[in-house]
Amino acid sequence: MRIGLIGLGRIGAFHAETLSKNDHVDQLLVTDAAPGVAEATAATFGATPVSSVDELLASGLDGVVIASSTPTHLALLRAAVAAGVPTFCEKPVAEDPYVVGDLIEAVQRSGTAVQIGFPRRFDPSFVAAKAALDAGELGWLTTIRSTTMDPAPPPAAYVAGSGGIFRDCAIHDFDAVRWATGREVTEVYATGSNRGEAFFADAGDVDTSSALLTFDDGTIGVISNTRYNAQGYDVRLELHGSAGSVAAGLDDGLPLRSADPEVHFPAGPAHAFFMDRFAEAFRIEIDTFLRVASGQQTSPCTITDGLEASWIAEACTRSLREHRPVRLDDVRPAP
Ligand SMILES: NC(=O)c1ccc[n+]([C@@H]2O[C@H](COP(=O)([O-])OP(=O)(O)OC[C@H]3O[C@@H](n4cnc5c(N)ncnc54)[C@H](O)[C@@H]3O)[C@@H](O)[C@H]2O)c1
Repeated sequence: MRIGLIGLGRIGAFHAETLSKNDHVDQLLVTDAAPGVAEATAATFGATPVSSVDELLASGLDGVVIASSTPTHLALLRAAVAAGVPTFCEKPVAEDPYVVGDLIEAVQRSGTAVQIGFPRRFDPSFVAAKAALDAGELGWLTTIRSTTMDPAPPPAAYVAGSGGIFRDCAIHDFDAVRWATGREVTEVYATGSNRGEAFFADAGDVDTSSALLTFDDGTIGVISNTRYNAQGYDVRLELHGSAGSVAAGLDDGLPLRSADPEVHFPAGPAHAFFMDRFAEAFRIEIDTFLRVASGQQTSPCTITDGLEASWIAEACTRSLREHRPVRLDDVRPAP
């Protein structure tokens, strides 16, 4: 397959390595807006540098991966879909879901496959947790908890442009709980606090947040996030059911110390960063996209899925600001 890759920063370079090692990829073509980056990445991974996105999309690709900065996603998605190239796009679909306009209709009209990047859907422990629920082993869900605690805050400039903790970080939790339950969130109630560096408050953001979600079947979701968890990168998905409970992320790398005497779990070392915790999930995700691009399966995470996670983030952002529960129907525009 001839695969294109747009954006060669932190995550793009990781995808470049994955794609260059994949047996199904005969040629990898890469481009980046920053001068010299495509040439350097191409030299590292045996890829072909291309000077522009237009040139890349016109080069007869079997699929394209968009891994550029968030504000570019919408225009690049439109261009890739218009060119009829099967597309993988990193989350989020758009910086602002209110400006997505007719993109979903354009995707449906063109019949072009689009997969949005939410790697937790491919993590073996997350997959096993969902499988236990789907097999009926847990009975009915009382509560689903999703946790993402970053070891250290991103730079102040990143925070200022991130859209806030719900759009930037918790969006992974929102997608994970929708995907695991197969249900839709109807209402949220969010809160947050700032006890760390001042640049979070300066940006109108919080460094720690929590959100209560109500699903359409009555399940309760509890989402917990912070930018200050120096013990390590803590990501867990816990499904508590009437007949059983299961957790993903409860491994020896869990950055949590038991206070119980004689308990030596987790044994460590703690997960340090999302790249090491989810390396395998990222690889499976890209492998899955290659099957989507070659028509062997449908997209496991559609543009509609990607946007729904964004609507939950919008509702939580509004709930935090207005200090009240917010219904999803009140943030999502009428069809
Ligand atoms: N799925 C995940 O877990 C995950 C993890 C990290 C990042 N992301 C997403 O991936 C995207 C990239 O994040 P990152 O951390 O790699 O950012 P980054 O800033 O490290 O890299 C972005 C790259 O895109 C390039 N770029 C910007 N505009 C471009 C354009 N118009 N055409 C071509 N290249 C362009 C930049 O020059 C840069 O090299 C973001 O949208 C982010 O939300 C997803």
